[in-house]
Amino acid sequence: MPPLPKPFFVLAPMDDVTDSVFRRVVARCAPPDLFFTEFVNVDGLQSPGRPRLLKKLRFTDKEQPLIAQIWGNKPENYRAVAEQIADGSLADELGVPGLQFAGIDINMGCPEKNVVNNGSCSALINNPELALEIINATKAGAAGRLPVSVKTRLGFNEVDFSWHELLLQQDLAMLTVHGRTRKEMSKVPARWEDIAKVRELRDKLGVQTLIVGNGDVESREQGEALAKEYDLDGVMVGRGVFHDPYVFAKDSDWDNFSKQARMELFLDHIDLFAQTWQPGERATHTLNKFCKIYINNFDGAKELREDFMQADDVADLRQRVSDAL
Ligand SMILES: Cc1cc2nc3c(=O)[nH]c(=O)nc-3n(C[C@H](O)[C@H](O)[C@H](O)COP(=O)(O)O)c2cc1C
Repeated sequence: MPPLPKPFFVLAPMDDVTDSVFRRVVARCAPPDLFFTEFVNVDGLQSPGRPRLLKKLRFTDKEQPLIAQIWGNKPENYRAVAEQIADGSLADELGVPGLQFAGIDINMGCPEKNVVNNGSCSALINNPELALEIINATKAGAAGRLPVSVKTRLGFNEVDFSWHELLLQQDLAMLTVHGRTRKEMSKVPARWEDIAKVRELRDKLGVQTLIVGNGDVESREQGEALAKEYDLDGVMVGRGVFHDPYVFAKDSDWDNFSKQARMELFLDHIDLFAQTWQPGERATHTLNKFCKIYINNFDGAKELREDFMQADDVADLRQRVSDAL
């Protein structure tokens, strides 16, 4: 891992949200100490579908340090992709030669039905043999050039610390624990006292793995308090960024941002989107979910959102937002 303060703050991987564009928006507002890519399927990357998936890994020097998050089923594909990430050939392919990821993270936490039915992500909690094969294959591909980490949950149906004990015996650089089981999806509050038990386990085992807590953090101050109370190395924030793009700032003033400042930030996002994605590479409607972040908390916001969501393409959206400014 790169040198990190304690506690360090991490922008969570969020599929179809934390792409290179949104990571740069967050970096401009108030950068976290560490970024993650969206999760990318290694089996798909090692198939004819590679070009479509590769886009998910696109990045720039403005989103650093950045961890590539991968998922899938086949250890040999983890190994191959980890090798391409670690030897820099993937960055070459992405058109950013010389830039490097800071690490490789394996997703062992996603609860979605289609992913679980496929035996991937959180399903690996129930298949520790395959989980270990995957970790070993990823490490073999990285070959000591990049740190390997895991993001997981408290368990599958029940909280299961034997799962974390197993992971902590794998010499991982970092273990991120989302404080819910797979069964709980996102329906109950995250249990930070159980995340703390994973940290206690780490201390008992005497290993160096950094422990990052995740779940329901909505401000830097709240994250700092949780990290202090439970003596965690880091705090990961996901949906908190939907309520406040300045979530990583000390004393964020987002609630007091004017309509104009919010619209200008949305315009910056749209411009970065237009510069990054060629027409057709990412659907314009993916910008709709960001509309809710910025176009909020002022009179007439709902009507403006309804109008912006009618835009046919990025140019049309930009025009509508500029006209409303
Ligand atoms: C839209 C969305 C997409 C997500 N995609 C990923 C992903 O690609 N990889 C991953 O590890 N977790 C993913 N997650 C889970 C988040 O990283 C995080 O663990 C979860 O939202 C709980 O943290 P929070 O309460 O701070 O949001 C996703 C969550 C959301 C809401």
